[in-house]
Amino acid sequence: MPFSKSAPPVFEHVSMRPYNTFGLDVEARYFVEINHLQEYIQLLNEGKYAHVKHFFVGGGSNLLLTQNLDALVVKIQLEGIEVVDENDTHIWVNAGAGVVWHDFVQYTVDHHWAGIENLSLIPGTVGAAPMQNIGAYGVEIKDTFDHLEALNLSSLTVERFDAEACQFGYRESYFKHAGKGQYLIASVCFKLAKKHSPKIAYGAIQDVLAAKGIENPGIRDVADAVISIRQSKLPDPKEIGNSGSFFKNPTVSATEAIRLQESFPGIPHYSVPGSTDIKFPAGWFIEQAGWKGYRSGDAGVHKNQALVLVNYGQATGLQIKELSEQIKASVLAKFGVPLETEVNII
Ligand code: EPU
Repeated sequence: MPFSKSAPPVFEHVSMRPYNTFGLDVEARYFVEINHLQEYIQLLNEGKYAHVKHFFVGGGSNLLLTQNLDALVVKIQLEGIEVVDENDTHIWVNAGAGVVWHDFVQYTVDHHWAGIENLSLIPGTVGAAPMQNIGAYGVEIKDTFDHLEALNLSSLTVERFDAEACQFGYRESYFKHAGKGQYLIASVCFKLAKKHSPKIAYGAIQDVLAAKGIENPGIRDVADAVISIRQSKLPDPKEIGNSGSFFKNPTVSATEAIRLQESFPGIPHYSVPGSTDIKFPAGWFIEQAGWKGYRSGDAGVHKNQALVLVNYGQATGLQIKELSEQIKASVLAKFGVPLETEVNII
């Protein structure tokens, strides 16, 4: 018999400022924190908040809030890290959706389990990670993802999704498309390796390791290198509000890529595995268009990484959105390349 939990307290007119890394001060009409899935099911069964949209928040690190939320904001705090299986080569580790992503990564690194160390210091929670297949420094979570469990919001049953069902792509998944708004991701299970095969092709990682004189890096060495790179060029949301990369890196056809390379010799570019398309760094376009370090009021473009928009304190979501639109228009005018937003604009 399922254990029962009483519905948790629901608060009204709550400032969202502590719950989004941009530090935007919009108001949630209703707000509830969920520590157990059963609590949320109980709340749904009571039906009191069926008249408003339910808006799930993890770390709030991929959100640009431009208006008050006439909704029930559900802050997911499902905790717990648990080893669920192992064999000679691998270990399966399950984590609650509310576990802070960086804490989870450090836990795996401390236990010498390999696979997600390159994803150190990415803001957000475990449950949000599969939504956009978070990635950095040559690794995406799809590489070690085993499965997740999610509450189907119509049937109130828990469903299991393997990697194929999640339809992972570059910053994409089923949960941003056909499955949008239909599930609450409750936990994620990763298949990590007992033997480390370091992924250090990314130039900046090699530079940090070389500077420290490390030739055969262990899991902790790679994690620490990534942490120092991120700290050197990405603003800490606790100090300056931001949501990491604001735009995706655009992918263009081979023909379009030749046009860009002929017009802008030396433009950095990357091949896309399994495709003839070429990916270009949005940060380069934005910097070349003159935006790096730009500031208007409290909305700005970070001085060390042009892909990151920042809130110096009192910017509104609309001001940041307006800035992002100016950037898009100027990159399109100068390079003929449309930029796509990575953060979720509400
Ligand atoms: N660049 C510039 N100017 C800038 C920023 C970048 O010219 O201001 C060019 C440089 O040529 C640089 C290249 O862009 O070599 C790549 O820059 P960087 O290594 O900083 O990575 P990115 O492509 O800008 C992506 C991810 C980041 C991730 C890094 C490292 C996306 C949208 N962003 O950024 O992810 O940390 O690679 O792997 O794919 C995030 O998603 O929030 C995020 C921070």
